[in-house]
Amino acid sequence: MRILVTGVGGFIGSQLARRLLAERHEVIGVDDFSAGYRHNVPAGTELIEGDLARAATIAALPRNCALILHLAGQSSGEISFDDPVADLQKNVVTTLNLIRYGVENACQRLVYASSMSVYGDVRDVPVPESSECRPLSCYGVGKLAAEGYLRVYARKLPFVALRMFNVYGPGQDMQNLRQGMVSIFLAQALESGRVHVKGSLERYRDFVYIDDVVEGWCRAALAPAAANQMLNLGTGARTTVAQLLERMRDHVPDMTWFVEGATPGDQAGIYADTAHLGNVLGLTRFTALDAGMKRFVQWAREHTAVGASHRPRGR
Ligand SMILES: NC(=O)c1ccc[n+]([C@@H]2O[C@H](COP(=O)([O-])OP(=O)(O)OC[C@H]3O[C@@H](n4cnc5c(N)ncnc54)[C@H](O)[C@@H]3O)[C@@H](O)[C@H]2O)c1
Repeated sequence: MRILVTGVGGFIGSQLARRLLAERHEVIGVDDFSAGYRHNVPAGTELIEGDLARAATIAALPRNCALILHLAGQSSGEISFDDPVADLQKNVVTTLNLIRYGVENACQRLVYASSMSVYGDVRDVPVPESSECRPLSCYGVGKLAAEGYLRVYARKLPFVALRMFNVYGPGQDMQNLRQGMVSIFLAQALESGRVHVKGSLERYRDFVYIDDVVEGWCRAALAPAAANQMLNLGTGARTTVAQLLERMRDHVPDMTWFVEGATPGDQAGIYADTAHLGNVLGLTRFTALDAGMKRFVQWAREHTAVGASHRPRGR
């Protein structure tokens, strides 16, 4: 198939594109490299560089893509407060532009990178897709608005909105200390051995390994039952920040941490109800945090500058 992957220079988009190319699909990748990197784009991708909020970039897209996998966007709740209008452009306007492109070109489906941030504060139970959405960050508001546009056009362009929880693993940006809880902590652990935790250690999250996320995207792109569904893409496991740090310390033994300050718009705790995901995509088995963490730490030591300077002796 001919598949448009936006955000192809980013963490998730690049890994998804690599998998699709390995499966012999034709991948048209788009990125403006405002956050991602050219070196992330897998060989074999037909790259279009440009900002998807701009009409000129949309006009440059080929007209015969079967699927749109839309991962381009601003991916940090914290950064969304710096410039909420830029966040709106990157997360909402790009989506609306791609919906209209998809309708005009009779694309089969648009799969959207939504987020657990749409929910806001929730009770300490696995959160189902039917929960009320009351986002706490400009980022969450934008993701929810984008879902709203997808619903409005659903009869002309079927969609799937994947509400991803905390994605982590090899390929994550270890230089951006404002996006990605696991990568931020790991970068600091390898760099200085001292992790700065912004917010309580009792907060809890649902950490989902990159390979499981890529698998979810591949299934969502094709599964008939996924059409016009919002799906939690998490594991269902509740992990506190303290537990996350302890798992990391299993692989970076000399690290310590301290708590100071907080992140605006942060959720106290959230983890996924995965029943709907299991029913619709058949995705029921996930990489355990310990196994995922081991692979992530190993990758960071071998492939990143921050890891390279702190490789254990003798390796
Ligand atoms: N990483 C997570 O845990 C997570 C969780 C939930 C949702 N998401 C969403 O998934 C998507 C991918 O996340 P990621 O972690 O790979 O982020 P990322 O920052 O690594 O990748 C996003 C990519 O989009 C590009 N981009 C941004 N604005 C653009 C624009 N206007 N036009 C073209 N390209 C643009 C960036 O340069 C970057 O390469 C994002 O939309 C993010 O909000 C991520």
